[in-house]
Amino acid sequence: MIKAVIFDLDGVIVDTAHYHYLAWKRLAKELGMDLTIEQNELLKGVRRMRSLEIILELGGISLNESEKERIANKKNGWFVEYVDQMKPDEIFPGVKEMLKSIRAKGIKVALASSSKNAPRVIELLKIENEFDAVVDGTMIVHTKPDPEIFLLAASKLGVAPAACVVFEDAEAGVEAAIAAGMKCVGVGSLEQLNKANIVVAKTADLKFDQLVKL
Ligand code: BG6
Ligand code: MG
Repeated sequence: MIKAVIFDLDGVIVDTAHYHYLAWKRLAKELGMDLTIEQNELLKGVRRMRSLEIILELGGISLNESEKERIANKKNGWFVEYVDQMKPDEIFPGVKEMLKSIRAKGIKVALASSSKNAPRVIELLKIENEFDAVVDGTMIVHTKPDPEIFLLAASKLGVAPAACVVFEDAEAGVEAAIAAGMKCVGVGSLEQLNKANIVVAKTADLKFDQLVKL
């Protein structure tokens, strides 16, 4: 029996995953590398510093902590610039209605994003009041695929993990949801997200009767 639905943000509610990719690609270019779309999959769902470390590992580059801090901030500056141009209508079609209709059926809704920018993004999209709980990257110690973020969201909602369904577009996020003992809807390609219970191309493609049967 489903009592809560937990949504990832970037790539599930809005295409900010693309802005993360553009900003990382720009940074990689400055480092003399070309970050491919396939390599970018490894960065999805993973917190900022870990994403940078993955890029550096791919390029065989080693930097000290303060230099890593400096360039991670640079990437974030670009990301924030892209995001600040966003309009509320950039939310994926049908998602706002979906959040409202799930809540109207008495099921709780939470946001669980590794991004420290999540509060800014949901405010820009004007959906900050559509959630019963919000967990962002400032509130966790361990990054996805660790289940911490989803367990924290469930505990904020007062719902047992087994009664939660997670929507995720990242492989690391699907693994985190499963490790939390939750059901998972993968948003994206079946090839990438085959560990999820069901995979849809777009968030709003999942119908309510499919959700309750998971
Ligand atoms: C996740 C994204 O939601 O947030 C990752 O999928 C990103 O790509 C991570 O690195 C951290 O985001 P931020 O905004 O704190 O750098
Ligand atoms: Mg995501």
